[in-house]
Amino acid sequence: MPSLVNPEVELAVRGFILDQEKMAEVVERMTKEMKMGLAKDTHPRAVIKCFVSYVQDLPTGKERGRYLALDLGGSNFRVLLVNLRGESDVTINSKSYDFPKSLMTGSGIALFDFLAECLAEFCMDHGVAEEGLPLGFTFSFPCQQQGLSKGTLVAWTKGFNCDGVVGKNVVALLQEAIERRGDIKINTVALINDTVGTLMSCAYSRPNCRIGLIVGTGSNACYVEKTVNAECFEGYQTSPKPFMVINCEWGAFGDNGVLEFVRTSYDKVVDKVTPNPGKQTFEKCISGMYMGELVRLVLIEMITKGVMFRGDSSQKIFQRWSFKSAYISDVESDPPGEYRACNKVLNDLGIIGSQEPDKEALKLICEAVSSRSAKLCACGLVTIINKMNINEVVIGIDGSVYRYHPKYHDMLQFHMRKLLKPGVKFELVASEDGSGRGAALVAATAVSSKNYKLSV
Ligand code: BGC
Repeated sequence: MPSLVNPEVELAVRGFILDQEKMAEVVERMTKEMKMGLAKDTHPRAVIKCFVSYVQDLPTGKERGRYLALDLGGSNFRVLLVNLRGESDVTINSKSYDFPKSLMTGSGIALFDFLAECLAEFCMDHGVAEEGLPLGFTFSFPCQQQGLSKGTLVAWTKGFNCDGVVGKNVVALLQEAIERRGDIKINTVALINDTVGTLMSCAYSRPNCRIGLIVGTGSNACYVEKTVNAECFEGYQTSPKPFMVINCEWGAFGDNGVLEFVRTSYDKVVDKVTPNPGKQTFEKCISGMYMGELVRLVLIEMITKGVMFRGDSSQKIFQRWSFKSAYISDVESDPPGEYRACNKVLNDLGIIGSQEPDKEALKLICEAVSSRSAKLCACGLVTIINKMNINEVVIGIDGSVYRYHPKYHDMLQFHMRKLLKPGVKFELVASEDGSGRGAALVAATAVSSKNYKLSV
């Protein structure tokens, strides 16, 4: 059957196509960059930082107790009360708080005061304001940790850009905000990245879980490395514990130019309009914060050329960020030849009277962007699995793109199989509430090994 799609559209999305050869090249370059991040002498100039997380124990299933968790890093902010009763018996009470957009780019003090205010309200509602419960702080931005409960923010990502936080210990900023209020007693015992939470949470029920992945607003992965290879950890040669979880911060891959061969002109436009141009190159090709905007840029080029929607269009589509990444999942969820979800998306965007070839073209653009994302993620996971040199692994995954895109899981699996050495077995598992449960599990290990102290 001849394609319904205008050849101009096919030409426009060609740059997003990654063949096997390019994917193998991505794996090779990423392997080199990860090694630089891990090694002490090259770490300072490495782009994939491979930060030490100070998490050295995976859950045993025996963790008990009540813990608080804060989850900041994506599109919403949550407070959780996690009760671990063991043997997978966990209850979680949680509340999501509306996160005023202005806080994302305001002062750091205002941000941390808001977190403390929500935490206080939550603790009072649950009658735990005076208990001094241990808290795990899931703060999903690149942090150079100096211990389990201490870490300085290296850079903001995902549209955040608050003053006075980069270079500071975020646990101290949180604890100070709590103390400014003076109405709750809390001990922040662990600072964790969401990838680490996801790994921990998945490992609770799947002991073979060794990698945590997020494909949501942002993207990143962590994995279990041999302590002796974690050279940036001061005890890497003497630690009695054989493993260290490494927070790769793979979003920054390509910030030194090594990914130019997979980037398109649209990626360059997106990069320019973000608060962190030149940074998080890999993440900007993969994650939900940027995918919709990439689709929109191709669309408006086609509209302007009169190739799609016959030059008819809406004002909304010309507004930056108006094409939400969730629309990609919607458009791709329609069965072949049907356009129910697609019509709804077009309607939302105020585009009326479009014809079947326009809808097919929109689908093609969405598929081009989402499949490049899945292929790049597959490259990242294969890099990590090769580095770990293991034959079997479970990967815990969270994030809106992975959860809601109808084909993401299958694409990831397909391309990983094609890239991995024969015989390597892996399983991709959606991790339940990683940020909350994972933070509580890390807090539990911190408390039981008593290796925490308040850092303010
Ligand atoms: C951050 C990571 C985080 C990821 C997923 C990235 O922008 O740098 O720390 O894990 O987003 O939330």
